[in-house]
Amino acid sequence: MIRTQIKEIYRSIQSTDTGFDSNNIITVAGWARSIRSSSAVGFIELNDGSFFKNLQIVFENEKIENYNIIASQNVGTSFVITGKIIITPNSKQPFEMNAEKIEIEGTSTPDYLLQKKRHSPEFLREIAHLRPRTNLYSAVFKIRSVAAYAIHKFFNERNFVYIHTPIITTSDCEGAGDMFRVITDSNNKNQEEFFGRKAYLTVSGQLNVECFAMAFSNVYTFGPTFRAEKSNTPRHAAEFWMIEPEIAFADLTDDMDLAQDCIVFITNHVLQNCEEEIDFLNQFVDSGLLSRLEKIVNSEFARITYTEAIEILENAKKSGQNFEYPIKWGMDIQTEHERYLAEQKFNGPVFVINYPAEIKSFYMRRNDDGKTVAAMDLLIPGIGELIGGSQREERYDKLIEAIQKNNLKEEDYNWYLDLRKFGGTKHAGFGIGFERLIMYLTGVSNIRDVCAFPRTTGNAEF
Ligand code: 4AD
Ligand code: MG
Repeated sequence: MIRTQIKEIYRSIQSTDTGFDSNNIITVAGWARSIRSSSAVGFIELNDGSFFKNLQIVFENEKIENYNIIASQNVGTSFVITGKIIITPNSKQPFEMNAEKIEIEGTSTPDYLLQKKRHSPEFLREIAHLRPRTNLYSAVFKIRSVAAYAIHKFFNERNFVYIHTPIITTSDCEGAGDMFRVITDSNNKNQEEFFGRKAYLTVSGQLNVECFAMAFSNVYTFGPTFRAEKSNTPRHAAEFWMIEPEIAFADLTDDMDLAQDCIVFITNHVLQNCEEEIDFLNQFVDSGLLSRLEKIVNSEFARITYTEAIEILENAKKSGQNFEYPIKWGMDIQTEHERYLAEQKFNGPVFVINYPAEIKSFYMRRNDDGKTVAAMDLLIPGIGELIGGSQREERYDKLIEAIQKNNLKEEDYNWYLDLRKFGGTKHAGFGIGFERLIMYLTGVSNIRDVCAFPRTTGNAEF
């Protein structure tokens, strides 16, 4: 079927150079968001998913032979409609389609759950199979798709090589132990038989992608990652996507520069390509969204050390700021602290660097002070931690020391140690939580509403 996408109609009418020939008869296809009619004329708001906005279809009793059948259809019905586009400068929408022929592709029923009214995100989570048809999810998943494209564009333009790291792994990258086991669903007595050893779903592609950084210099991986931590928060999912670049001959400053460029590039790309979606979200979800995104693309991200962050938090506490967790050098910075720093103190993104070695992963490069590592987290308003990264320990002996200190088995990391033995270089990388990035780009405050089918503790329906 040759059909015109509703987006094409909007864009060609908006564009001053091509204009739009309203004598053309075109065919559109989509789902009715609403249908209303009198005895003489009816209206369908049709959405085909190509564009955030609907196309208004006008159908007249005189012209449409199955008028009464069409007029009695329910919301959610899918139609194929042929007609002409009429410019309507004096009405609510700039143009509409005057239908000449309407075919029903698939009927719907009166108990269709998505009637034309606002539904809460909580209710929509219960009908995750239908929620893509609502305005909110239409905006969120369009932005998610555009942001994913922007990520590939960003790295591709900088000659990064895209590596597909494995999902099934036998090493625990973050050393946190919160991993899902991979076993076969058979009656095998020995569950480790399939791979000959214990296997897990990966928490990060980093260790694997480091091997490729030692060959291609600049690489990234972008795929699903899994964490079995039972954090029931609006920011944690058991399955989420991560973007992990890894750069050779680079230190922590290079790492932060890349992270900032990357976030600014993606934000710009989304602002330029998702105008209608951002407008909608700014109006209905988060009234500060647009100004926040516009501010970010024009600002330098602040950079402070962990020790400075602790001082700032201690001072805030002295001035009456309430924190649930006590502030002490050596503690893990909690979400409430991250948000205080990004929202109140810096009112924008802030990198915190040089964390205590004890609270960070074994692969991070030790600093000369003997206490801290060259780690960096990017904290942003509304979310807290968006990025975690570091310069990597490239010194063979220091890495062995760290592996031992973290009670990891040296023999599990032989191949990782080899990278330090054969032409190892200074190198660094980071991981961006893709869902948290989408939360930041959309103003949506719960990770469950930016995943197509969220997987969280106690929840894997659909
Ligand atoms: O800080 P993390 O644990 O860093 C790593 O995994 C490194 N190996 C990355 C690297 O250097 N290549 O995770 C990176 C980011 C976090 O900053 C956060 O945005 C996101 O991943 N993240 C989660 N997002 C959703 N649900 C969870 N349970 C998440 N855990 C981490
Ligand atoms: Mg982290």
